Amino acid sequence: MILSIESSCDDSAIAITDISSKKLLYHNKISQEAEHSAYGGVVPELASRLHAVGLPEVLEGALPYIDRLKAVAVTNQPGLAITLNEGLMMAKSIALLQHIPLIPVHHLKGHIYSLFIEKETIMPLLVLLISGGHTQIIRVEHFGHMEIVATSMDDSIGESFDKVAKMMGLGYPGGPLIEALARQGDENRFSLPVPLRNSPLIAFSLSGLKNAVRLEVERLGGEAHMSEQDRADLAASFQKAIKLHLLQKSKKVFAKEPIKDFAMVGGASANLYLRNAYEDLCRTFGKTMHTAPLKYCSDNAAMIGRYAIDAYHQETHCDPLAVHVERSRKQQNGTLL
Ligand code: KG4
Ligand code: ZN
Repeated sequence: MILSIESSCDDSAIAITDISSKKLLYHNKISQEAEHSAYGGVVPELASRLHAVGLPEVLEGALPYIDRLKAVAVTNQPGLAITLNEGLMMAKSIALLQHIPLIPVHHLKGHIYSLFIEKETIMPLLVLLISGGHTQIIRVEHFGHMEIVATSMDDSIGESFDKVAKMMGLGYPGGPLIEALARQGDENRFSLPVPLRNSPLIAFSLSGLKNAVRLEVERLGGEAHMSEQDRADLAASFQKAIKLHLLQKSKKVFAKEPIKDFAMVGGASANLYLRNAYEDLCRTFGKTMHTAPLKYCSDNAAMIGRYAIDAYHQETHCDPLAVHVERSRKQQNGTLL
C-alpha cells in the first residue's frame, strides 16, 4: 500500500491506495475554502496554519494501514512552499519511521492521474489541464514523457473565474459560483473579447478578458449597484468567452494531433458547461473524451497515490532525506518536468 499526501494549496488530503489492485482504500480531505472565502483567494499564512491542524486530522484514518505501507508519496511541486513543506515533513517522518522510500509527486502529473483512480492508465493521451494555477494542453506519451504543447501566458482559467467572482462580490472559489450564476443569465448580453482570437499563437491568455469584465462592472456602477440579472448575464458572457477561447485554441491542437484519447482534468474541469463544449468538439474530431469523477477534479490525495503506484513500479522513489520542495517556476512549452 501507498500513503499519499497533498497539501500544495488549500486542501489537506491523505489517501491509502493498494499497489497491486490500484484500489483506493482510504481518502480524506479537509478543504479550507470557507476560511479563505472572506479574502476572495488563498492566504498562504492562513493556509499553513490550517494545514498544521488539518493534516494530522486526516492522517488519523490512515493509521490502521501504517504497518503495511511500501512507500509514502507527497506532492513536492508546484504550489505554496510553506504548505508543501508541511506535507513533505509529515511524509518524511512516516517514511523514516517505517523505513520505506518516499515518492515525490508533481502536482500536475497528479491531476492527470485523477483520470486513472481505481483504473488502468490510458496513454497516449491529450490532456487539457485547467486548475487554479495552470492552463495547459499536455501531450502524455507515457509515464516518463509528458509534453506541454500550449500554456497560459498570464492567469489560469481557475484564477480568472476566482478573480471575476471577486469583482462581482460572489466569494471564493469563483468557478462553481460563476457556473451556477451563469445558468440564470443571458450569455449574449455582454460582448466580451475572446482572447487571442486573431493571433496564430497556440497559447492561452486571460488577463485581457478579466480586464474587460472589470470595465463592465465599472460601467454598471460598481459591484454594489449590479442587479442579480446583471451578475448572471455577466457571469454567463464571461463563461462563454472562456469557452470560445479554449475551443479555438484546442481546435488548432486537435487538427494536428493524431492521439485519439482526450481528457480534461483540474478543478475547472468540473465545469459542466465547458465539459459539454468539449464533448461536442471531441465528437467533431473523432476523439474519445475522458474526465475524472467530479469529486477528484479538485485537489485530492487519491490522484497523488495513483500516480505514485506507477512511479513505484518505475522505481523513481527516493531516499526520504533527499526529497525537497522544488522551486515553482512557470513552465512554458516543453517537457513537463
Ligand atoms: O485543481 P484545483 O482544485 O487546485 C489547483 O491545483 O489550483 O483547482 C481550483 C480551481 C479554482 O480556481 C476554482 O475556482 C476552479 O478550480 N473551479 C472551477 C469550477 N470548480 C472549481 N472553475 C470553473 N468552473 C467550476 N465548476
Ligand atoms: Zn490542483
